[in-house]
Amino acid sequence: MTSGYARGFANAASEALRLLGLLLLPGGDARRIYGLLGSAHVVGEQSLFMNLGYWAEPSVRTFDEASAALVDLVGRTAGLSGEDTVLDAGFGFGDQDLRWYEQYQPRSIIGVNITPLHVARARERVAARGLSDRIDLREGSATTTGLPAESVDKVLAVESAFHFDTREDFFREALRVLRPGGRLCAADIVPLPGRSFSYPVRSIWHVPKANLYPRDTYAVKLEAAGFRNVRVTSIREHVLEPHMRLLARRLDEPDLIARMNPLMRRASKSPGYNRDVLESFDYVLAVAEK
Ligand SMILES: C[S@@+](CC[C@H](N)C(=O)[O-])C[C@H]1O[C@@H](n2cnc3c(N)ncnc32)[C@H](O)[C@@H]1O
Repeated sequence: MTSGYARGFANAASEALRLLGLLLLPGGDARRIYGLLGSAHVVGEQSLFMNLGYWAEPSVRTFDEASAALVDLVGRTAGLSGEDTVLDAGFGFGDQDLRWYEQYQPRSIIGVNITPLHVARARERVAARGLSDRIDLREGSATTTGLPAESVDKVLAVESAFHFDTREDFFREALRVLRPGGRLCAADIVPLPGRSFSYPVRSIWHVPKANLYPRDTYAVKLEAAGFRNVRVTSIREHVLEPHMRLLARRLDEPDLIARMNPLMRRASKSPGYNRDVLESFDYVLAVAEK
């Protein structure tokens, strides 16, 4: 019993130190924070989704449902179909690929993700469903996928492109790998016009400075990369406020108290973090064609 407590305390203390390291010694990439968070910090009830969710429909009540609704919105906006070869950039623990496969049976999904833990766990989950021949999840960066030019029909990124170093390099890579007529669709986080992200948000979540521009500039940069029919729409009212409001309650539920690092739990509940998110974040749905 005592040694269990001691181990728990030592773990929490070591995680707290690593978190402090992220704050004081920024750099590297998003592997630092996701390696630290593991799967103990996901707020879904059953799933391992790591996005803020899309809460527009009154029928959406849980974090799992909201995350799935966001993934559905991206799939729908991209116009996914059974004919598609899809590149998924930043697939988390793979929930979105399983969902898109279930709904559209695309020809294949190739995923890239830089966090080894995510890749390993997502591959296991895909294998457990017998889908490894259709969903090919690889360790790698969204900015240098290694895929042949003009080899995919859709490029999707669910709440991941703000991490990429840089998002513009990802736009260029997406344009290169897309076939003519192919589509890029991203759910993404940017600063509101005239705002920026606080230092803790940027350093802990690894958001390169080069990615800090508002939604209008996002559209300009997609066009500059060579995309056409660009639309970048704010969906923040259906994402940020409902997520933050319900998160406060969710963080006090027993399963999260038991598995989450107490420091991270407290930080996620703090008024400062809430203010940061609600006053500086915009949440966009971007779609563009090659
Ligand atoms: C906020 S999580 C979202 C995960 C998933 N899309 C979801 O909605 O549950 C961001 C994901 O992007 C991945 N990521 C961060 N930087 C990346 C990069 N340069 N290339 C590929 N994946 C990256 C992270 O490892 C993580 O899995």
